[in-house]
Amino acid sequence: MVNVLSSDRLISGATRVVGILGDPVAHSRSPAMHNAAFAALGLDWVYVPFPVAATDVSAAVAAVRALGLAGVNVTVPHKQAVLAHCDALTPLARRVGAVNTIVNRGGRLLGDNTDVHGFAQTLRAARLRLRGRHAVVIGAGGAARAVLAALGAAGAARITLANRTAARARALAARRWCAPVRVAALAALADPATLADAALVVNTTSAALDGGDFPAVAYAATPAGCLFVDLLYGHPTAFLAGARRARRRAEDGGAMLLHQGARAFTLWTGRRAPLEVMRGAV
Ligand code: ATR
Repeated sequence: MVNVLSSDRLISGATRVVGILGDPVAHSRSPAMHNAAFAALGLDWVYVPFPVAATDVSAAVAAVRALGLAGVNVTVPHKQAVLAHCDALTPLARRVGAVNTIVNRGGRLLGDNTDVHGFAQTLRAARLRLRGRHAVVIGAGGAARAVLAALGAAGAARITLANRTAARARALAARRWCAPVRVAALAALADPATLADAALVVNTTSAALDGGDFPAVAYAATPAGCLFVDLLYGHPTAFLAGARRARRRAEDGGAMLLHQGARAFTLWTGRRAPLEVMRGAV
């Protein structure tokens, strides 16, 4: 699908503008998803992708205010960096330590996190019962923070956090989560003992966007009902391919994209999100 406005939709001074700040951002399906929703509800809104380098995060958030954007989504790698530039944070965004949605309330920028809801919906749709179980999270960036919050809410008994940079994982594990978080090296994913009782293994890293090699994972060591989720969407990843070869359930980040987007849509517009239209556009 092409991210264009249909010819009967004209931009005017009344058009409300939202968008997404990230690097890279060209791969994002959020513009297609939100523009389809605006069209379906007849809203004079437009959603635009904005590539923003790490050095420009402060200026980009200031521009949301200066240009009167109704809000923005924030994606890799800026979900933590934008925190300091918001005027206020929701309690959830503060607890998670990451913002994926900014709402412009009359020039005051409120940072929120709808990824937590998006991931919780992913678990619900997969009918995964996590209460009392072990979950493994790969990566320790902004997306991992939302996943940790959702896993705690879902009742996971313990979480293993594996990341390339150990210090970043240790800093994240030291925050207050609802379940104990043990830090591991990426190499531990190849050890069958790490995954032997895992009910869920989630890849939150952007390794596939970097074109980097994905670390070895002992897929077949997991219980037969283990669910593998990759937060990336739209293209096959080595992580999900490995899970499928081991005959495990494998889900990409499509459901998380949809549900985090639906909640952001409602925060900006005050309208119920047309979920089926958005799902179709993704
Ligand atoms: P996001 O907001 O999507 O979480 P992020 O905060 O930039 O993005 O975090 C990216 C995550 O992907 C980090 O855990 C990063 O590992 P480091 O903490 O070591 O940087 C991980 N990552 C990125 N590229 C990777 C690669 N090639 N191999 C392994 N991990 C990678």
